[in-house]
Formats: sequence, structure tokens, C-alpha cells
Amino acid sequence: MKPEDFILRDYDRLAEEGEHSAQAPSNIALVKYWGKIPDQMPCNPSISLTLKKALTETHLSYRKNSEMDDDLDVEVYLDEERQRAFEPKVMDFFQRIQEYVGFVKDHKFVIRTSNTFPHSSGIASSASAMASIAICLMEMEKSISPKMTRDYYYKKASFMARLGSGSACRSLIGRVVLWGELEDKRDSSDHYGIRANRVHSIFKDYQDAILLVDKGKKSISSSQGHRLMYDHPYARTRFDQAGKNASQLLKILENGNLEDFITLVEKEALSLHAMMMTSDPYFILMQPNTLDIIKRIWRFRNDTGIPVCFTLDAGANVHLLYPKRYSQKVIRYIEEELTLLCQDKHVIYDEVGNGAKVIKS
Ligand code: PMV
Repeated sequence: MKPEDFILRDYDRLAEEGEHSAQAPSNIALVKYWGKIPDQMPCNPSISLTLKKALTETHLSYRKNSEMDDDLDVEVYLDEERQRAFEPKVMDFFQRIQEYVGFVKDHKFVIRTSNTFPHSSGIASSASAMASIAICLMEMEKSISPKMTRDYYYKKASFMARLGSGSACRSLIGRVVLWGELEDKRDSSDHYGIRANRVHSIFKDYQDAILLVDKGKKSISSSQGHRLMYDHPYARTRFDQAGKNASQLLKILENGNLEDFITLVEKEALSLHAMMMTSDPYFILMQPNTLDIIKRIWRFRNDTGIPVCFTLDAGANVHLLYPKRYSQKVIRYIEEELTLLCQDKHVIYDEVGNGAKVIKS
């Protein structure tokens, strides 16, 4: 589908007021998106696992503005407290999507959100937040186009979420998600995420223990990091590498070869951080404990033969990935050895989940 296909042309029949609720999960990239052109168009394809427990819940209510008033009007609350600092970001988001859901211009919106993970945990909530708002907006659209297909619903939700925060487009459809055009995947798109359907059973309930090394705010935001890829000396090579890794990972996800999975996923995580360390200005988001944990994960894997591996997002926290059948042994190891290296011994045990959904009142 193309962006033009997502333009809603007639929304006169929309109710004067209403409300919708939705929840959407966070996701963790296995092949990383790092580098974009305007409007969150990615410079390379990425692939992620949708999480299950790290969720944002959003309640959106709307009321029609007076005839004369077509300014965007949004109030945002987090845990019942007004968050004026977030409002410009949501307004920007609405500005970008108003071509596709024109009704955002002539309604006043109140958005109430809460996260199932602690606010200051170093887990970015923008992906899950934007995805959950996108679902609420799709419910508004569905109220006047009840016959829209499921395919259109999720693609447009993902398309809009991308315009809020790039990686948010991978937080809609669930399980393993590919975002970005890949030559050998005809239905892939830079505009939205699609589910990778041919996935070996071992990955269906893959586990992700998020080891919270640093719960503080990052010194460099991901927007700044993406920007530094504009004139990064290794950018072209990195974008090509990510494309190849995405194609290869789809094959691995299909055949279930864990050795290849581990190598590719860890290489991707370190390549992402290598880009940070070689940008101008350069920066390091890993902390000493990040490295310590990585080395311990390698040692544990060598000693036990259990196929654990790590990935990193744009921060110091470590995502420890493993097949569910090893849960008991891995959790014991985490509790005995790795929690000591986490801030407040904090670990979030998550796993692959089914994506965003409507909350019926
Ligand atoms: O969606 P953003 O702009 O927060 O960028 C996400 C970047 C990474 O988390 C580092 C990688 C990814 O693909 O999620």
C-alpha cells in the first residue's frame, strides 16, 4: 500500500464526541534502525520482536471543535498528571498525520496514558505510546468505515505510528515485525511494519529479560543519534550491512538455527553501538556494567551450552534473549549473578507478544 491509500477522504459522519482505549507494547530490534531521512523514513530495514508485558495503555477522548476552530488541540496526561512537556510532541505527530486522518484538526483531544513498566526504567515509552494512540485513531476511523480490512487497519495504524516515532511502527501487528523495503520480500515497506509469518516455533515464545543497568535518561536521544548518521563516514556500509542482515535474519527465523541467530543478533547490537562510537561527535551509551554483563553472558553460554544471547537498544540496558525451555536455568543465573550489576537489581522479564489491541470498555 502507498501513503495515498491511507487518506481518509470523508469523515462527516464521525460522532461529535467519543472515546477509545487501546494498549500497545514496546519492541526490541534484532536488526537495528539507525539513520533516517525526514518523516521517519528509515535508511535501512529493521526487524524486531514485539514484547508482551512492557505496554502503554491509552484512553483517548475527543469532542468536536466549533466551526471556526481548526487548530490542533491536545491535552496529554501520564498517570493522571498533565504532561505539558509531551504535548508539543503529540501535536507534531498530529500535524504529520492530519493529511491521513483529517478529523484530528477539528476535534479537541484528551489523551490519558499509563505504562506497565516504570517511567524511569530506561525503556523508551515512545514506541508503545505512539502505537497505542494510532490504534485509538484507527478506532475513530473504523466507526465511520466499519468494513475496512484488518490488513488496512494494521498497516495504516503502523504507518501513522511511524510518523510519531519511527520504531513505533513495529509495535502494532505483533510477534516478529519487519519494517523497511527488502528486495526479496515483496510486501515489505518503508512506510509501515509487516509481520514475518514464516517463523520457527522456537521463536514463538522467545524470552527477553531486560537487565536495567541504567534507569536514567540517556545522554544522547535517539533523534540526535539518527541525525549523526547523515554524514557518518561508515553510514553507507552500515545501511548495506543492515539490509543483508535483515534478509539473512528472516531465513534464520524460518529455519530456527540458533547459532546463526546469536551471531547475527549480537553483531547487530555491537554494530549499532560502533556507529555511536564513531560519529562526530562520538559518544558511548554503554556503561561498565553493560560490558561486564555481555562478557558474563558469553561465559555462561560457553560453560552451559545454553543458547542465550544479548542485544542492546540505544542505551546501557541489556536485553538477554533465550528460548523459553531454558527459562528456569537462565532466570536462576540472572538472579544469582546478573542482577547485582543492574540498578536496584532491577530486571523486567518479558517475552514475545501479539501486538497492540483495543481495550473494550
Ligand atoms: O524510533 P527511535 O527514533 O526511538 O529509534 C530507535 C532506535 C533503536 O532503538 C536504537 C533501534 C531500533 O530499531 O529500535
